[in-house]
Amino acid sequence: MGKDVIIACDFSSAEQTFAFLDKFTGKKPFVKIGMELYYAEGPSIVREIKERGHKIFLDLKLHDIPNTVKKSMNVLSRLGVDICNLHAGGTVRMMEAALEGLTRPDGSRPLLIAVTQLTSTDQESMENDLLIKAPIDEVVMHYAENAKKAGLDGVVCSPLEAGKVHDRCGKDFITVTPGVRFADGDIGDQKRVMTPAEANRIGSDYIVVGRPITAADDPVAAYERCVKEFIG
Ligand code: C5P
Repeated sequence: MGKDVIIACDFSSAEQTFAFLDKFTGKKPFVKIGMELYYAEGPSIVREIKERGHKIFLDLKLHDIPNTVKKSMNVLSRLGVDICNLHAGGTVRMMEAALEGLTRPDGSRPLLIAVTQLTSTDQESMENDLLIKAPIDEVVMHYAENAKKAGLDGVVCSPLEAGKVHDRCGKDFITVTPGVRFADGDIGDQKRVMTPAEANRIGSDYIVVGRPITAADDPVAAYERCVKEFIG
């Protein structure tokens, strides 16, 4: 599994997305398509970006009954994406069903990773709203272990958790980490951030970087800096 920088294409239209991607002449960065862009443009945006030669992490975070997730994953698998995800909170059975749905007739499938607890959920909201009383770090690690048990390939987590996830679930269990900022950059609304070099040291396999690249004066230079700091 190679390390890579994934650009979060958090745009609201195909037009904005292609204007951004057109800046990368000759290079085809790995991109993340999230709910906003997918719901605005539908599956055609995925096909078009794929046709341009990019790898795609389709970040739709599925969470439903196992049968519905299985059938939906089957549809997403046919789009030819490289990584899909779901909420580990949907249970081990839901994650197993998702894997079945993703697997193509020839046995190939996109990587499947799980969101453990969202980073917007804190101890207080988890206890009060979800009635989960265990320490949040333990919950995150337990959900990561459930994902591994179900046969998933890894988790989305904070770069601060990546080392611990590898300790508990093995070094081949992929960690995909947002919350990355340049040492001299704006942290914006992210709370706990790491530089690409720190994320590398702690063992992130993929970093997901949005605004430090998409909002940069020179996005291509910012992307290249990120790759250099993360991969060397
Ligand atoms: O612009 P920025 O680098 O903060 O973008 C980070 C991306 O990663 C966004 O698409 C955001 O939704 C996503 N993400 C995150 N924190 C999580 C899960 C996903 O920032 N815990």
